[in-house]
Amino acid sequence: MPNEKPSKDELKRIVARAAIDDLFASGLIAGGTRIGLGTGSTAMPAVERVGELVREGKLPGLRAVATSFQTRAACEELGIPVLSMNAREVTGSLDIAIDGADEIDGKKRLIKGGGAALLLEKIVAYNAARFVIIADESKVVDTLGTGFRLPVEIVPEARLAVEAALRRLGAESVLREGVRKAGPVVTDNGNHILDCLWQAPVDPARMEAEINAIVGVVENGFFARVTPTVYVARADGSVEKR
Ligand code: 5RP
Repeated sequence: MPNEKPSKDELKRIVARAAIDDLFASGLIAGGTRIGLGTGSTAMPAVERVGELVREGKLPGLRAVATSFQTRAACEELGIPVLSMNAREVTGSLDIAIDGADEIDGKKRLIKGGGAALLLEKIVAYNAARFVIIADESKVVDTLGTGFRLPVEIVPEARLAVEAALRRLGAESVLREGVRKAGPVVTDNGNHILDCLWQAPVDPARMEAEINAIVGVVENGFFARVTPTVYVARADGSVEKR
């Protein structure tokens, strides 16, 4: 029988487990580590692998911060101690954060927020000493802005004003609609999401700052002010660290 290539779900699991095992072997995830855990279908198998290590007694005193209700529920089910960023044992900063991404460009700048969890994901990523991204190679792109729509979390009352301001920045935006729920997506923080697209690639660092300067924007999904370590699963199932 010919060797079948792993499915995308298998690649996500492969890269998630490989990254956690590598970080554990190198001591970057250890007993007592304060770890931020991401959201989405690539982050979940990483959370599961952390849960296995916790249950095997290999991570005593690990403290996790979850980036969404999805991740918090997974931690609770898997026996991973989950705390707030503001907890006395966390004090607003983390040793490491690990998460998925929607797009990664050649300079390792990201678009995130496909799961509408960008706000907590960025709070965690930007306050971690190390930031790690796990992805299958379909997420690797040349430029950002014209492919995956950039999620922007907004205060609902400001929607039309923010849409107009985004147009002035060259972006056309659509309000993200709920699935099996009438009306817009409501984020874990009670806000709405505008998904934005440009006609030509943009400078992610400049755009990250300019979008956040719009009144009514809570946060946007460009992650250009941190340079993550990236683990990428290639189509053949091998994992590359960048
Ligand atoms: C959620 C995110 C996710 O990390 C991103 O959408 C990738 O998700 P997946 O691993 O399911 O493709 O930013 O807000």
